[in-house]
Formats: sequence, structure tokens, C-alpha cells
Amino acid sequence: MKPKVFITRELFDDVIEKISQYYDVDVWDRYQQPPYEVLLHKVREVDALVSLLTDRIDCHLLQNAPKLRIVAQYAVGFDNIDVDCATKLGIYVTNTPGVLTESTAELAWALILAVSRRIVESDVFVRWGEWYRVKTAWHPKMMLGVELKGKVLGIIGLGRIGRRVAEIGSRGFGMKVIYYDVTRNYEAERELGVEFRELPELLKEADVVSIHVPLTQETRHLINEETLKLMKRSAILVNTSRGAVVDTEALVKALRDGWIAGAGLDVFEEEPLNPNHPLTALKNVVIVPHIGSATYEARHAMAEAVANNLISFYKGQIPPNLVNASVINQRAPGFR
Ligand code: NAP
Ligand code: GLV
Ligand code: GLV
Repeated sequence: MKPKVFITRELFDDVIEKISQYYDVDVWDRYQQPPYEVLLHKVREVDALVSLLTDRIDCHLLQNAPKLRIVAQYAVGFDNIDVDCATKLGIYVTNTPGVLTESTAELAWALILAVSRRIVESDVFVRWGEWYRVKTAWHPKMMLGVELKGKVLGIIGLGRIGRRVAEIGSRGFGMKVIYYDVTRNYEAERELGVEFRELPELLKEADVVSIHVPLTQETRHLINEETLKLMKRSAILVNTSRGAVVDTEALVKALRDGWIAGAGLDVFEEEPLNPNHPLTALKNVVIVPHIGSATYEARHAMAEAVANNLISFYKGQIPPNLVNASVINQRAPGFR
């Protein structure tokens, strides 16, 4: 008998088929996520679970899953999973790093450009007839933005995505790049000419700040009232990491009262964002619905990575994207 896997949303058919060669597959086929109660019910009888970042995989859920051996997350971030609890229970946790780096870095750049050149505001200006109404095709001061060349790009979290954003900034746009991270990356400093700064110094110096840290206890509200006040009044903040890395209330104040010039946001403390949220009333913000990895290339490759993790585990091998390496001491991979 094949082990059972519950997949919390429809992935790509070819990948589901691949997984089906090894697993008895149960796919949640609705657009909306399975409610927590459904997850709780499903995990009671499955050997494996494929989760999305919107599925809350907490300790209570894991403790109620007597046969569960692996949680294969369809995302690189895994802050929705209680990994320590999984490790204690001998449950393997995997993610999908690398394959979405390019797409997410490109989205960060789309936001940087959209904010610095007021693309969304300009689009609305044309679409809603304002350009036509003012009867002026071109004016020296119409929709002025800022140029990026020679400006300072500050990267918070120089990991896979942060590094790619840094590279595009440095090589593509001719920006000076500074970064803050828990660990210094001397190789990137040599290769890309990026310079390390402590966080307060980075915030004081950067014209564009782009956030790429995972959400952890240490990074929750890393950007708050105090740190926002260190930024230049002309600076742009871009967040494609996790909403809770930024204190939203403080950000709204900063944008409204001109502590910073603008923001580009892909992620929010509460998703989906309520259309009545104060952020949506601000002109100097570009907001998109958590689409960092939303390209055909990345999303398909993420599904492939999930399949590879599940199949390796099935074969008794260590899955390529194991998050909790110490689980190996608890239990060998596989279902035997
Ligand atoms: P990564 O390679 O692990 O990079 C994260 C970097 O942040 C690492 O260099 C890490 O250092 C560093 N870091 C960790 N804690 C820190 C702290 N407290 N202060 C400063 N730096 C810290 O991950 P990635 O693949 O680039 O992805 C980054 C995050 O982006 C993910 O965790 C996810 O939440 C988010 N993401 C969002 C989207 C989207 O759709 N918007 C798409 C993909 C990813 P160490 O390695 O030394 O810990
Ligand atoms: C997306 O947000 C991810 O973490 O992969
Ligand atoms: C602008 O369109 C220019 O020709 O300068």
C-alpha cells in the first residue's frame, strides 16, 4: 500500500501525477484554503502533507497526526510551521528554496521601479482621464520620480533573494549596495562589491531599502517606528519577505507623515489585505497580493521541488530541501 499524502491545494497536473507514482494522493481542490478543522481531520490519517504558507501547521496539529512523517511546504518561507515541534516528533520538514529566487528578486525590482517612477499613480492618471482633462500632454514637472543610478540600495538579509536583488542593483542599475545580515558574506562583498552595515547605519544611508529576511522571533517588527525614523525622508521601502517583519501601523504613519517617501509591498501582516486598510488610501504605496514567486517558471519548479522532496523521502533518502536537519537523529527518512 502506498503512503497517503494530503495536498492542500491544486498543484500542476504533471507533478501530481509524478507524486501519485509513490503516494496515494488526496488534493484539496477548492480555491479557498482548507479550514484548520479540515486540516486537523485530514492529518489524522496521512503519512505526508503538502502545505502552503497559509496553512497553520502548529504543534497541536502535528501532535494529532500519529502517522505523519513529512511536511513538504510549497514555499521557501516556513514561518507557518512549528518546526521545533515537528523535529521533536520526528517529522521531516522541507521547503522550496532557490527555484523562486529569480522571480521574487524580479518582483522586488518591479516594486522598486514602480514606486520610484510612480508607475501605478501614472497609470491611474491616464486611465481615469486626468491626463486628458488637464489638456497638457507633457509638462516639465509632471509625475516626477527619482533616478536610481548612483543611489544607495540597502539590502536587509543577503540570502538567496537579497543577493540577487543586490546583483541587479549593482550590475544593472549602477547603484551602490550595502547590506545587513546576521552573518557577513565576504564572498558577496568581494564578488559584488557590496558593503556590510549594521542595521541603523544601513537605514540612515540607503535611498532604497529592500527586505529579504525570513520571519522569525528576531525579525518580527524589525522595521518599526524607531527604525523607520532612521530612514531618509526621500527613501523607499520595499518588502517582499513577510508582512510581519514590518510594523504596519508604524509604516502607515511613516508614509502619511513623510518620514519616508514611498513603499512597495507584496506582503502584509494580515492577508488578504482589507481594501479599507489605511495603506490603500496612500498614493505613495504600491501594493500587490503576495505574488513574489507568481511566475509559471517558479511555481512549476516549486511543485517539482515538493515532488522531489516527497519522493526522496519515500525512497529512504534525505530530502534535498530538508529544513530541520537534526530530525535525522530522531528518525531515518522513509516510511518503514
Ligand atoms: P535565505 O536564503 O535564507 O535568506 C535569508 C537571509 O536572511 C539569510 O542570509 C539569513 O542569514 C538572513 N537572516 C536571518 N535572520 C536574520 C536576522 N535576524 N537579521 C538579519 N538577517 C537575517 O532565504 P531566501 O530564499 O532569500 O528567502 C527569504 C525570505 O523571503 C523567505 O524566508 C520568505 O519569507 C520570503 N519570500 C517571499 C516571497 C514572496 O512571495 N513575497 C517569495 C520567496 C520568499 P542566515 O542564513 O545566516 O540565517
Ligand atoms: C513565498 O512567500 C515563499 O516563502 O515561498
Ligand atoms: C521626452 O520625451 C524627450 O524627448 O525628452
